[in-house]
Amino acid sequence: MEFENITIVGLGTMGHGIAQTIALAGGNVRAFDSDNAHIDQLHKRISDNLSVMMEAEAIAEVSVSEVLDRITCFESQAAALDQADFVIEAIAENLHVKQEFFASCEACVAPEVVMASNTSSFPVTAISQGLQYPSRVINTHWFNPPHVIPVVEVIPGTKTNLDTIERTTKFLKELGKHPVRIHQELPGFVLNRLQVALFREMLDLVGRGVISAEDLDIAVRGSLGLRWAAVGPMRVGDFGGWDILTKVYEVLASEIRSDIQLPDVLVRMQAEGKLGLKTGQGFFEFPEDDQQRVIADKDRKFMAWAKVLRESYEV
Ligand SMILES: NC(=O)c1ccc[n+]([C@@H]2O[C@H](COP(=O)([O-])OP(=O)(O)OC[C@H]3O[C@@H](n4cnc5c(N)ncnc54)[C@H](O)[C@@H]3O)[C@@H](O)[C@H]2O)c1
Repeated sequence: MEFENITIVGLGTMGHGIAQTIALAGGNVRAFDSDNAHIDQLHKRISDNLSVMMEAEAIAEVSVSEVLDRITCFESQAAALDQADFVIEAIAENLHVKQEFFASCEACVAPEVVMASNTSSFPVTAISQGLQYPSRVINTHWFNPPHVIPVVEVIPGTKTNLDTIERTTKFLKELGKHPVRIHQELPGFVLNRLQVALFREMLDLVGRGVISAEDLDIAVRGSLGLRWAAVGPMRVGDFGGWDILTKVYEVLASEIRSDIQLPDVLVRMQAEGKLGLKTGQGFFEFPEDDQQRVIADKDRKFMAWAKVLRESYEV
């Protein structure tokens, strides 16, 4: 592999799945988290994930113990960073905390070691400000669950060099991921911008009672979602014809939401504490005693579609 020893710092929602992906692909993972509970749970979490993935045939049968043997947890960040060829940071989403991490990391590793952030919002140019070698810092933006979702956005900072971009991209491909290069450091990169654009309109429509939440999910899954997953929205446009789509665009551009107010329904849901699964109620109900089943069912669906996608990328 492009990198032999990969240090992961932060073993929460994202870090544990990234560690799993790397170990499954044959990399040696050196893991650290400032919270011992996350270190203690790491092997069990990954072992459970691997069992579910094998059962869902999302991955080939593997020896779980062999995968876990490639993941070593350390009691200090410095020990985890020792011998690292590649570092991935998946710690708290706080610019100051991330800057501190990268500064302390730089003090422990050789100048050629690539240092990647998994930030969802900060430009790596800001995260790497003040470092001696910012040319080896890059953002690899994984999606949750990281061991299932194929795409990783790759966003270089203004000082990131080509070698860092190329080696990181090669490494992600070796992990079985689909790295997608983003050419400018915009807030939200690309995919979160698209997601928010859709959220704005869909929350407005559901909030105004134009369509129910249930029907909106059914409608998108069986039309836009299917087409986007099968060929991608840019090709959907090419197939549909941009002359027609230009006319549709002209009619609708002034009709759809374009302001920066939070949709009323979102404000209401916040006030009522309806935050989704975590509070037992969002647009749908999630009784506490059924939540594990619902999550496992959702993960199985993700895996089944990811498998179809993997095969369709290959042809
Ligand atoms: N959750 C998502 O859907 C998602 C998606 C893409 C990117 N991200 C980004 O990934 C990063 C991690 O997010 P998460 O959802 O895994 O968070 P999380 O809270 O689940 O995990 C963060 C982990 O980092 C540890 N940690 C915090 N500060 C630390 C430090 N200084 N040193 C060592 N360990 C530290 C915490 O103990 C925790 O275990 C964030 O930057 C987040 O924005 C999250």
